[in-house]
Amino acid sequence: MPPLPQSRHLATEIPGPGSARLAQRRAAAVARGVASTMPVYAARAAGGIVEDVDGNRLIDLGSGIAVTTVGNAAPRVVDGVREQVGQFTHTCFMVTPYEGYVAVAEALNRLTPGRYEKRSVLLNSGAEALENAVKIARAYTRKSAVVAFDHGYHGRTNLTLALTAKSMPYKSGFGPFTPDVYRAPTSYPYRDGLIDKELGSDGERAAERTIGVLENQIGAENLAALVIEPIQGEGGFIVPAPGFLPALLAWCRDNDVVFIADEVQTGFARTGAMFACEHEPIEPDLICTAKGIGGGLPLSAVTGRAEIMDAPQVSGLGGTFGGNPVACAAALGAFATVQAEDLVGRARQIERLVFERLGRLQADDHRIGDVRGRGAMIAVELVRPDGAEPDPALTKALAAACHRAGVIVLTCGTFGNVLRLLPPLTISDELLSEGLDVLAGELAKL
Ligand SMILES: Cc1ncc(COP(=O)(O)O)c(C=O)c1O
Repeated sequence: MPPLPQSRHLATEIPGPGSARLAQRRAAAVARGVASTMPVYAARAAGGIVEDVDGNRLIDLGSGIAVTTVGNAAPRVVDGVREQVGQFTHTCFMVTPYEGYVAVAEALNRLTPGRYEKRSVLLNSGAEALENAVKIARAYTRKSAVVAFDHGYHGRTNLTLALTAKSMPYKSGFGPFTPDVYRAPTSYPYRDGLIDKELGSDGERAAERTIGVLENQIGAENLAALVIEPIQGEGGFIVPAPGFLPALLAWCRDNDVVFIADEVQTGFARTGAMFACEHEPIEPDLICTAKGIGGGLPLSAVTGRAEIMDAPQVSGLGGTFGGNPVACAAALGAFATVQAEDLVGRARQIERLVFERLGRLQADDHRIGDVRGRGAMIAVELVRPDGAEPDPALTKALAAACHRAGVIVLTCGTFGNVLRLLPPLTISDELLSEGLDVLAGELAKL
């Protein structure tokens, strides 16, 4: 098959007839609770392009929600997967183990922040990694309470819904949720700064507010773990004020509370470091990874301090598919790609290009309240002109206009007013710039 041309091309209206037919079949076959951002059905994807079944080529500024960091169908991933499927597709690591699992664990232990002895367990999804991190922290501390944060997102299983902040659409109607899970204020520089300038810029002050809640409403003697995204993803690409994460980590260390960094979205080169914790820098006790690590195949992990990871009893962790050999082969291909192509450096280049373009846009348009993020994880928060009231309608309209013009963008944010960019790190500067031009052009029309 010839390589996928790296250019935007609209062969039909969006959606075209092929996608419309599939949408009809889908309506009769797929549960309506599963939604899709785009109305088109994918046929091929590579570099910075997704091609649909009608031959439309869309600029990919979403990476399938931060998964195809190394690009879609990345050659090293494809080679590893091809070789592995020809050998065996599953034996179950809990029955007859295999080298790929061990090699992925070794790589994660080496690549994650923290200069201490580590262990990893491999699982299938981000939510499953979070579930297991909480189990491990409870086994280690022999305490049960867990705290998560305003605007946090950790998945769709019952425990991770308890950790997740936003009601609609994630939690509403699905309770009751796991008990002994609490919520604390986070650091949201843009919105904190509207109330109190210092709170918006001083992470240590924001941490004082958080620690007050932990001490007064939960009590360190009850708290097993603190679960936090170093940059909040679904909550709106919120980068906490400098000093916030280190102050929370120090408090956890002083109080025998396991610090769990949820790097499911931020991890694996996405933010211009291998892991977002490195920006502060902090060394969490446990790190949850998923999304990008599998190069597009389902794989997740919990990695952390050996003494914590080894607290659960033998056979206390695992699962039928966790660390599937094909997913492990894909992950090893993805790790090799990040290294060989210096994708951490590429994420920093993308950050410069996107910030420069969006910064210019913000200067001319008062509906852009904030531009924030790191690496190839950057968002704009859209507000009513001359204020900071969230504008979810504008955000939805802008995303839909970009989609019609052949650019995949995603929205997020507790208030539904954040347009986020998560391009694959293999996208060319030309495609990225074109995608941003489309965004700017469509915003100007609204
Ligand atoms: C920070 C974070 N944690 C956990 C999850 C859940 O991952 P999964 O959808 O693989 O269960 C997500 C998914 O978007 C996420 O962004």
